[in-house]
Amino acid sequence: MSVVALVPAAGRGERLGAAVPKALVELDGESLLVHAVRGLWASGCVHHVVVAAPPNQIDVVTAALSSLGAAVTVVSGGAERTESVWLALQAAVAEVPDTEVVLVHDAARAFTPPAMIRSVVEAVRAGAPAVVPVLPLADTVKQVDADGRVLATVDRASLRAVQTPQGFERGVLVRAHEAAAKAALGATDDAGLVERLGEPVLTVAGHTDAMKITTPFDLAVATALLTHRGR
Ligand code: CTP
Ligand code: MG
Repeated sequence: MSVVALVPAAGRGERLGAAVPKALVELDGESLLVHAVRGLWASGCVHHVVVAAPPNQIDVVTAALSSLGAAVTVVSGGAERTESVWLALQAAVAEVPDTEVVLVHDAARAFTPPAMIRSVVEAVRAGAPAVVPVLPLADTVKQVDADGRVLATVDRASLRAVQTPQGFERGVLVRAHEAAAKAALGATDDAGLVERLGEPVLTVAGHTDAMKITTPFDLAVATALLTHRGR
């Protein structure tokens, strides 16, 4: 009855603009990917991790993760995030046949608190087929047209920003990805694919530390976060 975490880490990190793929960018001497996998393992509720790495970095990634003492499999990622997750999911099902719960966690959310990871797993174990951690929005949100003219002010109270890890009952995630692969559909998150199946998606409380590192500004914020934690 295992919990497997899939870590899509095969992106190029174009918005960050570093010399190496984003997951391999180092903070405090370790890559974002190593920080992310350490957090998953520290949650104490993950039995196996499958990383989707940039295809030309498999050896580097495998070596970097070997010191963590975690059960890790590294596979080649795909051209889009959805494809990377699907490749990792197929490897997980083959490698850990008793997989019951699957987490999907971006390497770019390297400093996600282990307690938040546990809360996602607990919600799936309690019966939710799909679970996403969310935060309320701080900014007012407006809908605009193609020319940038405001059409409406959206009611912020009903909106949430979505983080990872997202947690799934294994069968639901497999069905969602099979359907997406068949229709050549992509999505920026896996819960979006589950919604298309008509399955309910539950939310749990996210955390500001689970921020996604996308731009150089985010990397500066994450550096400050790490310094603060180290005190
Ligand atoms: N990802 C992946 N395979 C891809 C694209 C993205 O595994 N083909 C992963 C990234 O490595 C990252 C996560 O999905 O951990 C979220 O994607 P994003 O933040 O967009 O990262 P990148 O695609 O690397 O960044 P950018 O879009 O700026 O190029
Ligand atoms: Mg991307």
